[in-house]
Amino acid sequence: MQKPIIPFEEIGEERLYKLIDIFYSKVANNPKLKPIFPDDLTETARKQKQFQTQYLGGPNIYTQEHGHPMMKARHMPFKITPERAQAWLECMSEAMDEVGLDGKFRHVYYQRLVQTAHHMINAPDEDE
Ligand code: HEM
Repeated sequence: MQKPIIPFEEIGEERLYKLIDIFYSKVANNPKLKPIFPDDLTETARKQKQFQTQYLGGPNIYTQEHGHPMMKARHMPFKITPERAQAWLECMSEAMDEVGLDGKFRHVYYQRLVQTAHHMINAPDEDE
């Protein structure tokens, strides 16, 4: 039988970590996202690397250190509006361009993030 393809192995740790670092450099400069994130994103990026590793089928290093992900619950202290979800996804899409992620892998990964980001929305846009 053929070995199953694990997305984490397909992207590789190095490229995944680079993607996340670039992503947070964009978050830090995004007017819609900046206000809800800490000024120093080092720890946020470290946790996101752990989370994405297991999200893509790699070792469960997020859960080992932080327990069950419960991502929606962990986002409850922050107002995740539809506009902010869109901004988050745009930062990710630009970061994917910069690390040269393309083809089917990028499409499938991005669509999964779109679903997760929409699931995280917990407040209406602020001008509504
Ligand atoms: C943490 C915002 C979507 C994964 C956070 C934090 C904020 C945030 C403000 C806290 C940062 C900190 O204090 O260190 C958002 C917004 C999103 C979004 C506006 C738009 C929809 C996502 C998605 C994922 C994700 C789609 C996963 C696929 C995480 C992880 C953490 C985190 C793993 C760290 C949790 C921890 O503290 O252990 N996010 N997020 N987020 N977010 Fe999001």
